[in-house]
Amino acid sequence: MYNNWNELRNKCNNCNKCELSKTRNNVVFGVGNTNARVLFVGEGPGEQEDLKGEPFVGRGGQLLDKYLKAIDLDRNKNIYIANIVKCRPPQNRDPKPNEQEACIDWLRNQFLLIKPKIIVCLGRISAQKIIKNDFKITKEHGIFFNKKDTIMMATYHPAALLRFPENKGIALDDFIKLKNKIKEICPETYNKY
Ligand code: URA
Repeated sequence: MYNNWNELRNKCNNCNKCELSKTRNNVVFGVGNTNARVLFVGEGPGEQEDLKGEPFVGRGGQLLDKYLKAIDLDRNKNIYIANIVKCRPPQNRDPKPNEQEACIDWLRNQFLLIKPKIIVCLGRISAQKIIKNDFKITKEHGIFFNKKDTIMMATYHPAALLRFPENKGIALDDFIKLKNKIKEICPETYNKY
Protein backbone atom coordinates (compact mmCIF):
# COMPACT_ATOMS: atom_id res chain seq x y z
CA MET A 1 0.00 0.00 0.00
CA TYR A 2 1.38 3.42 -1.02
CA ASN A 3 -0.05 6.44 0.75
CA ASN A 4 1.16 8.87 -1.81
CA TRP A 5 -0.53 9.13 -5.18
CA ASN A 6 2.64 10.00 -7.13
CA GLU A 7 4.55 7.14 -5.60
CA LEU A 8 1.73 4.74 -6.42
CA ARG A 9 1.61 5.97 -10.00
CA ASN A 10 5.38 5.69 -10.44
CA LYS A 11 5.50 2.15 -9.06
CA CYS A 12 2.58 1.11 -11.23
CA ASN A 13 4.15 2.65 -14.33
CA ASN A 14 7.19 0.43 -13.78
CA CYS A 15 5.25 -2.75 -13.01
CA ASN A 16 6.21 -6.02 -14.63
CA LYS A 17 4.24 -8.44 -12.48
CA CYS A 18 2.65 -10.16 -15.49
CA GLU A 19 3.17 -10.92 -19.17
CA LEU A 20 1.09 -7.94 -20.31
CA SER A 21 3.94 -5.65 -19.29
CA LYS A 22 6.07 -7.08 -22.11
CA THR A 23 3.80 -5.96 -24.93
CA ARG A 24 2.47 -2.67 -23.61
CA ASN A 25 3.37 0.76 -24.96
CA ASN A 26 2.03 2.55 -21.88
CA VAL A 27 0.64 1.64 -18.50
CA VAL A 28 -2.90 3.01 -18.31
CA PHE A 29 -3.03 4.00 -14.67
CA GLY A 30 -6.26 5.99 -14.57
CA VAL A 31 -7.67 9.46 -15.04
CA GLY A 32 -9.82 11.90 -13.12
CA ASN A 33 -10.27 13.56 -9.78
CA THR A 34 -8.52 11.65 -7.00
CA ASN A 35 -11.03 13.12 -4.53
CA ALA A 36 -14.02 11.91 -6.50
CA ARG A 37 -16.87 10.09 -4.76
CA VAL A 38 -17.56 7.96 -7.82
CA LEU A 39 -15.05 5.50 -9.30
CA PHE A 40 -15.65 3.88 -12.71
CA VAL A 41 -13.80 0.64 -13.43
CA GLY A 42 -13.38 -0.83 -16.91
CA GLU A 43 -11.73 -4.03 -17.98
CA GLY A 44 -8.39 -3.12 -19.53
CA PRO A 45 -6.86 -0.81 -22.11
CA GLY A 46 -7.45 -1.24 -25.82
CA GLU A 47 -5.23 -0.09 -28.67
CA GLN A 48 -5.89 3.66 -28.38
CA GLU A 49 -5.61 3.59 -24.60
CA ASP A 50 -2.29 1.74 -24.80
CA LEU A 51 -0.95 4.34 -27.24
CA LYS A 52 -2.16 7.33 -25.20
CA GLY A 53 -1.80 6.01 -21.66
CA GLU A 54 -5.35 7.09 -20.77
CA PRO A 55 -8.44 4.91 -20.21
CA PHE A 56 -11.43 5.00 -22.55
CA VAL A 57 -10.12 7.25 -25.32
CA GLY A 58 -11.19 5.12 -28.31
CA ARG A 59 -14.67 4.84 -29.81
CA GLY A 60 -16.03 3.18 -26.68
CA GLY A 61 -14.57 5.97 -24.60
CA GLN A 62 -16.29 8.61 -26.70
CA LEU A 63 -19.58 6.84 -26.11
CA LEU A 64 -18.82 6.63 -22.38
CA ASP A 65 -18.18 10.38 -22.29
CA LYS A 66 -21.63 10.97 -23.80
CA TYR A 67 -23.30 8.89 -21.09
CA LEU A 68 -21.27 10.69 -18.43
CA LYS A 69 -22.27 14.06 -19.84
CA ALA A 70 -25.93 13.03 -19.84
CA ILE A 71 -25.79 12.78 -16.04
CA ASP A 72 -23.43 15.73 -15.46
CA LEU A 73 -20.30 13.68 -14.84
CA ASP A 74 -16.96 14.54 -16.37
CA ARG A 75 -13.71 12.55 -16.26
CA ASN A 76 -11.77 15.77 -15.69
CA LYS A 77 -13.97 17.03 -12.86
CA ASN A 78 -16.04 14.83 -10.61
CA ILE A 79 -15.18 11.16 -11.20
CA TYR A 80 -12.17 8.86 -11.47
CA ILE A 81 -11.79 6.17 -14.16
CA ALA A 82 -9.51 3.12 -13.90
CA ASN A 83 -9.34 -0.45 -15.18
CA ILE A 84 -8.97 -3.92 -13.69
CA VAL A 85 -5.75 -4.44 -15.67
CA LYS A 86 -3.49 -1.51 -16.46
CA CYS A 87 -1.79 -2.95 -19.55
CA ARG A 88 -3.38 -3.87 -22.87
CA PRO A 89 -4.11 -7.56 -23.45
CA PRO A 90 -2.84 -8.46 -26.96
CA GLN A 91 -5.56 -8.37 -29.64
CA ASN A 92 -7.93 -7.02 -26.97
CA ARG A 93 -8.57 -10.50 -25.56
CA ASP A 94 -10.09 -10.77 -22.08
CA PRO A 95 -7.49 -10.34 -19.36
CA LYS A 96 -6.64 -13.77 -17.90
CA PRO A 97 -7.46 -14.51 -14.24
CA ASN A 98 -3.75 -14.56 -13.33
CA GLU A 99 -3.24 -11.16 -15.03
CA GLN A 100 -6.22 -9.71 -13.16
CA GLU A 101 -4.89 -11.11 -9.90
CA ALA A 102 -1.39 -9.73 -10.56
CA CYS A 103 -2.82 -6.26 -11.27
CA ILE A 104 -5.69 -5.89 -8.80
CA ASP A 105 -3.57 -4.53 -5.95
CA TRP A 106 -2.97 -1.36 -7.97
CA LEU A 107 -6.71 -0.80 -8.19
CA ARG A 108 -7.12 -1.70 -4.51
CA ASN A 109 -4.55 0.93 -3.63
CA GLN A 110 -6.30 3.47 -5.85
CA PHE A 111 -9.58 2.62 -4.09
CA LEU A 112 -7.99 3.04 -0.64
CA LEU A 113 -6.66 6.49 -1.55
CA ILE A 114 -9.76 7.76 -3.37
CA LYS A 115 -12.24 6.26 -0.86
CA PRO A 116 -15.16 6.46 -3.28
CA LYS A 117 -18.76 6.08 -2.10
CA ILE A 118 -19.85 4.47 -5.35
CA ILE A 119 -18.09 2.10 -7.77
CA VAL A 120 -19.51 1.68 -11.27
CA CYS A 121 -18.30 -1.44 -13.08
CA LEU A 122 -18.23 -1.16 -16.85
CA GLY A 123 -18.91 -4.63 -18.21
CA ARG A 124 -18.82 -8.21 -17.04
CA ILE A 125 -15.10 -8.62 -16.34
CA SER A 126 -15.06 -5.67 -13.97
CA ALA A 127 -18.35 -6.64 -12.29
CA GLN A 128 -17.19 -10.23 -11.76
CA LYS A 129 -13.92 -9.12 -10.24
CA ILE A 130 -15.38 -6.37 -8.04
CA ILE A 131 -18.99 -7.26 -7.19
CA LYS A 132 -19.22 -11.08 -7.36
CA ASN A 133 -17.64 -13.74 -9.50
CA ASP A 134 -20.89 -15.04 -10.98
CA PHE A 135 -22.22 -11.59 -11.89
CA LYS A 136 -24.64 -11.71 -14.85
CA ILE A 137 -24.60 -8.38 -16.64
CA THR A 138 -27.88 -8.94 -18.54
CA LYS A 139 -29.76 -9.73 -15.31
CA GLU A 140 -27.95 -7.63 -12.73
CA HIS A 141 -26.98 -4.39 -14.49
CA GLY A 142 -28.39 -1.28 -12.83
CA ILE A 143 -28.80 -3.00 -9.45
CA PHE A 144 -27.05 -1.46 -6.44
CA PHE A 145 -25.03 -3.74 -4.18
CA ASN A 146 -23.60 -2.67 -0.84
CA LYS A 147 -20.22 -4.17 0.11
CA LYS A 148 -18.52 -2.88 3.25
CA ASP A 149 -20.29 0.47 2.93
CA THR A 150 -19.37 1.01 -0.69
CA ILE A 151 -22.26 1.06 -3.13
CA MET A 152 -21.54 -0.84 -6.34
CA MET A 153 -23.36 -1.26 -9.60
CA ALA A 154 -22.53 -2.45 -13.09
CA THR A 155 -23.71 -1.48 -16.51
CA TYR A 156 -22.92 -2.58 -20.05
CA HIS A 157 -19.41 -1.99 -21.33
CA PRO A 158 -19.37 0.83 -23.93
CA ALA A 159 -17.67 -1.46 -26.47
CA ALA A 160 -20.56 -3.92 -26.03
CA LEU A 161 -23.00 -1.06 -26.69
CA LEU A 162 -21.19 -0.30 -29.95
CA ARG A 163 -21.67 -3.95 -30.95
CA PHE A 164 -25.28 -4.17 -29.69
CA PRO A 165 -26.74 -0.67 -30.00
CA GLU A 166 -30.18 -2.00 -29.05
CA ASN A 167 -28.95 -1.94 -25.42
CA LYS A 168 -28.08 1.77 -25.46
CA GLY A 169 -31.43 2.82 -23.96
CA ILE A 170 -31.12 0.28 -21.14
CA ALA A 171 -27.64 1.59 -20.39
CA LEU A 172 -28.97 5.16 -20.26
CA ASP A 173 -31.58 4.02 -17.72
CA ASP A 174 -28.71 2.63 -15.61
CA PHE A 175 -26.92 5.98 -15.76
CA ILE A 176 -30.08 7.80 -14.69
CA LYS A 177 -30.41 5.41 -11.73
CA LEU A 178 -26.78 6.19 -10.96
CA LYS A 179 -27.45 9.93 -11.02
CA ASN A 180 -30.29 9.50 -8.53
CA LYS A 181 -28.08 7.39 -6.26
CA ILE A 182 -25.31 10.00 -6.41
CA LYS A 183 -27.80 12.72 -5.45
CA GLU A 184 -28.92 10.57 -2.54
CA ILE A 185 -25.57 9.57 -1.04
CA CYS A 186 -22.93 11.97 -2.37
CA PRO A 187 -24.68 15.06 -3.75
CA GLU A 188 -21.44 17.01 -3.39
CA THR A 189 -20.37 15.29 -6.62
CA TYR A 190 -22.56 17.84 -8.34
CA ASN A 191 -21.34 20.97 -6.63
CA LYS A 192 -18.01 20.43 -4.92
CA TYR A 193 -15.49 20.61 -7.70
N1 URA B 1 -12.11 -0.73 -22.46
C1 URA B 1 -11.86 -0.78 -21.14
O1 URA B 1 -12.40 -1.61 -20.43
N2 URA B 1 -11.03 0.11 -20.63
C2 URA B 1 -10.43 1.04 -21.36
O2 URA B 1 -9.68 1.83 -20.81
C3 URA B 1 -10.72 1.08 -22.73
C4 URA B 1 -11.55 0.18 -23.26
